[in-house]
Amino acid sequence: MTQQRWSAVDRYIADLLLPPDPSLDAALEASAAAGLPAHHISPAQGKLLQLLALMQGAQTILEVGTLGGYSAIWLGRALPVGGRLVALEGDPGYAAVARANVDRAGLADVVEIRVGPALDTLPLLAEEGRGPFDMIFIDADKRSNAEYLAWALELSRPGSVIVADNVVRGGAVAGDGDGDASVQGVRRFYELLASDPRVSATAIQTVGLKGHDGFAIGLVTGGA
Ligand code: DHB
Ligand code: MG
Repeated sequence: MTQQRWSAVDRYIADLLLPPDPSLDAALEASAAAGLPAHHISPAQGKLLQLLALMQGAQTILEVGTLGGYSAIWLGRALPVGGRLVALEGDPGYAAVARANVDRAGLADVVEIRVGPALDTLPLLAEEGRGPFDMIFIDADKRSNAEYLAWALELSRPGSVIVADNVVRGGAVAGDGDGDASVQGVRRFYELLASDPRVSATAIQTVGLKGHDGFAIGLVTGGA
């Protein structure tokens, strides 16, 4: 009566509030067929990101960790004409799957996919003068989460929104995860969120198709 119930409620919510989208379904099918790990966000979480982007009036979005492009499609659909989503993906095979999924969703001209370790592509974006981004979604490997947040802050402006996935990990963040590099990365991420005066943040635990996890949400309040 835990995971089974959480999944049933997510399906209930999706049936009522999330109209079928063949491109999103196709993206998940193609990702699974290509052997990508099932680390994509849930449909209800995708809609949450989309609504946050719409509330923010985002015209530029940065995604750190794109996997098969599922969240990029949700976010890309929130952008107005002329809007841009820059999606960073470290694995060239995953990026190819994402490219095809995003193109199939009709977002070829909206989503720019940059291939390479985000710790390389983030400084390149800064060098190129890209940004500030109105919204940044961090969902890559968790070991370097604090570094991704540091770059997100550099690529922000006062008013930018930063969202990060997987900040609870079944409760491991507050458990005995001392020997786990991912848990340590998430804890260092929280420490930076807590100490950096440029951002005001909280985190919300979630249950659902993705088990027990959570999103951190921060509003950039001060300039870089
Ligand atoms: C993992 C990564 C994710 O982004 C996620 O949502 C779930 C799991 C992982 O690396 O295990
Ligand atoms: Mg994730």
